[in-house]
Amino acid sequence: MPLKSLLLSALAALPLASSQLPVGTLRNPVLWEDHPDLDVFRIGNVYYYSSSTFAYSPGAPLLRSYDLANWEPVSHSVPTLNFGAKYALNGSRAYVKGIWASTLRYKEKDDVWIWMGCVEGRTYVWTASGTQAGRKGGEVDPGAWAWKEGGSIASCYYDAGLLVDEEVGRMFVVYGNPRITVAEVRLEGDGSVREVVPGKVVYEPGYTVEGARMYRKGNDYYILITRPADQEIVLRSTNGPYGPYTAKTLVNRISGPLTNAGFAHQGGMVDTPDGRWFYVAFLDAYPGGRIPVVAPMTWGSDGFPKVVVDSKGAWAQEYPIPVNTTKTVTVSTGTDEFKGKELSHHWEWNHNPENTKWRLSDGGGLVLQTVDVTTDLFAARNTLTRRIIGPKSSGTFRLDVSGMKDGDKAGAVLFRDRSAYIGRTAVFSYSVDGGKTFVRLGPAALMVNSWQYFTGYRFGVFNHATKALGGEVKVKSFTLAKI
Ligand SMILES: *[C@@H]1O[C@H](CO)[C@@H](O)[C@H](O)[C@H]1NC(C)=O
Ligand SMILES: *[C@@H]1O[C@H](CO)[C@@H](O)[C@H](O)[C@H]1NC(C)=O
Repeated sequence: MPLKSLLLSALAALPLASSQLPVGTLRNPVLWEDHPDLDVFRIGNVYYYSSSTFAYSPGAPLLRSYDLANWEPVSHSVPTLNFGAKYALNGSRAYVKGIWASTLRYKEKDDVWIWMGCVEGRTYVWTASGTQAGRKGGEVDPGAWAWKEGGSIASCYYDAGLLVDEEVGRMFVVYGNPRITVAEVRLEGDGSVREVVPGKVVYEPGYTVEGARMYRKGNDYYILITRPADQEIVLRSTNGPYGPYTAKTLVNRISGPLTNAGFAHQGGMVDTPDGRWFYVAFLDAYPGGRIPVVAPMTWGSDGFPKVVVDSKGAWAQEYPIPVNTTKTVTVSTGTDEFKGKELSHHWEWNHNPENTKWRLSDGGGLVLQTVDVTTDLFAARNTLTRRIIGPKSSGTFRLDVSGMKDGDKAGAVLFRDRSAYIGRTAVFSYSVDGGKTFVRLGPAALMVNSWQYFTGYRFGVFNHATKALGGEVKVKSFTLAKI
């Protein structure tokens, strides 16, 4: 009997521990997924979080939360990576290039979301108008974000942080490494963003600082920067956005909330409608990636914030939940049968996809036709990926392989570079009897925990040809489980 359907399972383990979460509690990490370079802000009662995706497409996912503890992806600010042909794996490749440390804010007066990020020397802009988020207390209808290219700016705003200062009707961008610089930009009627005042250096400590975020609280301006990957520094100006700024350390090699992960750093701050503040940062937790943690902040009489720590001076694993709400978000575990008109925002392709070679079929299932003839997985387009979740998870793809052609290669992958030294093991297995039994496939693979690829491991499904195009597989479902 020819092989018709195949279940492929990959198991990923991160070096961390977990247990049951009591009600009313925020548990760190709040999301055990790779969402680095966060930019967090609030509209009404809704919190939003933008993060980096390098060459994955669509890029710059937008997450939503009602309590800062539970998050779900609801959009991507960059639907197509418009940074050149290599982002479509066209001749060359862009792994590790693309979107990092970008910024997203909402300009309520004009009802427009503005995303900006420097990619290979230019700052690209994407905007989404007309969501009415401001009028609706932060809520946005599903699919209401209609992202549009907003042109680009010749200056590279390296690790950009946008501040929409509605009180004075101006917008500032803080950026740079090691010179922290502030420029002024303006939103034009055509939806593009233009630099109106070139950058002025506001802080230069003589060592590497980056990852800047900018805020206004009352009449004071604040800039948060990281000295990677240990420390977070707060700059404060009582004299407007250009300073002078005075600096104070917020955290430096703070222990917790997890052993066996890095220090909380490169964060941002956000307030609740009743004026309580929270610091959201990330931990380096390779091979999983960089995962967000939250802690409450208090404000000293000197006008600087402090992170609330536990009795040992550490970032606590649990804090009281920042907001009590009946609103919930969807969790990332469960089964996706690829029903509906669009892929969910959990999914990202390895580069811009060839859109004529994949489709969601009526009644469910994702059809992946072969796009490239290659023996190199990294050169093949249309590998679909999503983040592994910690501390341990399994991802199972159910494939109909009856449409494969001679020489085609399809399957499940733990997708990342494989260049490095020590690591965790991942176990692959397959089943041909509908999941009743799984057969382990080969020895455990090494999941490398070097940081140089930046993004963490992902579950992926691929289909490429080694001889000739024309074959296809149907991905009937994907199941993500914590184990
Ligand atoms: C890929 O490269 C070819 C040849 O240079 C070009 O015709 C095509 O438009 C490119 N496609 C994309 C998506 O950039
Ligand atoms: C949330 O509810 C709990 C239990 O009623 C209460 O102790 C806590 O103060 C509330 N937190 C907030 C932020 O309102």
